[in-house]
Formats: sequence, structure tokens, C-alpha cells
Amino acid sequence: MAPIVVLRGDGIGPEVVEEGLKVLKAAARRYGIALEFTEALLGGVAIDATGDPLPEETLRRCREADAILLGAVGGPKWDTLPGDRRPERGLLRLRQGLELYANLRPVRVFPPLLDVSPLKRDVIDGADFMIFRELTGGLYYGTPRGIEQRGEEETGIDTLIYTTSEIARIARLAFQAASRRRKKLTSVDKANVLMSSQLWRRVVVRVAQDFPGVTLEHILVDNCAMQIIRNPRQFDVIVTENMFGDILSDEAAVIAGSIGLLPSASLGARGGLYEPVHGTAPDIAGTGQANPIGTILSVALLMRYSLKQE
Ligand code: IPM
Ligand code: MG
Repeated sequence: MAPIVVLRGDGIGPEVVEEGLKVLKAAARRYGIALEFTEALLGGVAIDATGDPLPEETLRRCREADAILLGAVGGPKWDTLPGDRRPERGLLRLRQGLELYANLRPVRVFPPLLDVSPLKRDVIDGADFMIFRELTGGLYYGTPRGIEQRGEEETGIDTLIYTTSEIARIARLAFQAASRRRKKLTSVDKANVLMSSQLWRRVVVRVAQDFPGVTLEHILVDNCAMQIIRNPRQFDVIVTENMFGDILSDEAAVIAGSIGLLPSASLGARGGLYEPVHGTAPDIAGTGQANPIGTILSVALLMRYSLKQE
């Protein structure tokens, strides 16, 4: 097997990755799994070293890898760079370059941590769901995008665009996951306003025909944002577009108690990228306070999905 590419990134990234690697190596030793690692640069550290948040060399090595472990990217030092040269753009180009179109974010309450959440114990006890966030389409990548002068005004433009095949492939993965779980899929959209959401809903309904054992429901994103903290136990698998998934998954972290607890796996045609849901937390970087559980759980997902070591 190809080496696992380690991208420590910025801020607390290197610290949490270090802890994740300890667990990964210990588990590998215990179960006799041979692993090799190689380090590469992504984000602010890559900008400092090469001027590019995603150096060619990093993309090449990630393309050859079966699995990539990532900390987090970004920080105040690079915040004044123009949009397309920021550390975050490196991450977005990596997701796109590897066609990692499905971002899985499992949300679960750990019984010993029930009182860590600001939400009431009886609301969150037993909550256990999985968010499937579309990761390589929508507002993050749509064109035209930019800031341009239109008459008197500067105008900022982003494009929310989805094709049938982009929707169908993430829907299919979400249905498959639901059929292995409690057999309920909630598709989140804004079909009362957005055309892309109307297509989203239509395609999800079409894909549902191949999964008669799964109950499909549709929910508008604003209502979903409320339901996630009002009654999170109602959810099994959630599937949604890129931006809605970004926002809802931060919100869902409140159920687990802290954003430091949530892992993620980004999957596509082959390989996988594993990273905690949180950011670089520059305010606590280097102080040893960062919670590495999100990364450690990401390592567990890496074992499961890329190494097939349940
Ligand atoms: C996430 C992050 C990223 C995103 C940022 C860092 C670009 O918030 O993975 O949720 O918006 O996708
Ligand atoms: Mg986010």
C-alpha cells in the first residue's frame, strides 16, 4: 500500500495530528498492520515555504495515496491575502483535485460527555447521525465568481450550481449509508426558493427508487437548523449541498459538546482525506489545550474506509 500522506497544516493542526498519529501507530502495531507515512505541505505553511497553498508536489503525492491525514489550514497571518491565494483555497483545490465529493461527518453523543453540551441532556441523549455533505460543487466552486465593478458599485459574485450527476452520486452514497443504519435519509435543501435545490430534490427522489428500504424525507435548511438542536434523535443520515453542510455540521457539533470532537472523512472515486471538522484555533495554538479527539476519530475513519481495518 502507498504511504499515508500527512498534512499537518497550520495553527493547532500539527498538535492534533501528532496525537492522531500516536493512536494510529499504536493501533497498527497492535494489529500488525504495516503503515508508511510521508509529510507534505498544505495551507499557510505551504504559502510560507513555496508561495502556493497547494504546491504541485503535495497534490501529486496525495494523488498517489490511499489515505491522507490532515490537521487544519488557515490563520490570521494569511487573512489579508486575496481570496484565491488564501490557505483555505489550497484545501478546496485539494478536495477538487482528488474529486473527494462526499464529506462524511458523523455526529454522536459520548455518554460521559453528556453534560459538556450546552443543550439539555434529555434532548441530546442517544443522538447519533451522519451528515453527508457534498464537497466539490455548489457555491464553493461555481463560476462566475469574483468581485467586479458594475457601474458605480463593486459587486461580489458567487454561483450556486449543481448538475444531475453531482447530486446523484452523493445521494447514492447517502442512501447506501442509510440502508446500513436506521434506514432513514433526510435530504436538506431550500427548494422553496432556490432552483438548484429544486433540481436537488428531483434527483434525490429519482435515486430513492433504487433504495425502497430507506425512508426519504425532505426538509428545508432553515427548519433543519432548528430541528438539529430541537430534536437531534430524529435524524439518521442527512444529505445536503456543500454550503448547507458546512454550516449545519458546525451547528451539530454542539450536540457532541465541542467542535473539537467531530471527525470527517472525504471520499471520492479512490483514496480518502481525513480531517477534524474544526479549524486552526490560532488563539490556543501551541498551548497544548486543543482537543485532539476529532483527529483521533478521523484516524478511526481512515482505518475503516481507506485501510478496511474495522
Ligand atoms: C470545513 C471548513 C472549510 C470549509 C474551510 C476551512 C474552507 O470550514 O471543512 O468545514 O468551508 O469547507
Ligand atoms: Mg466548516
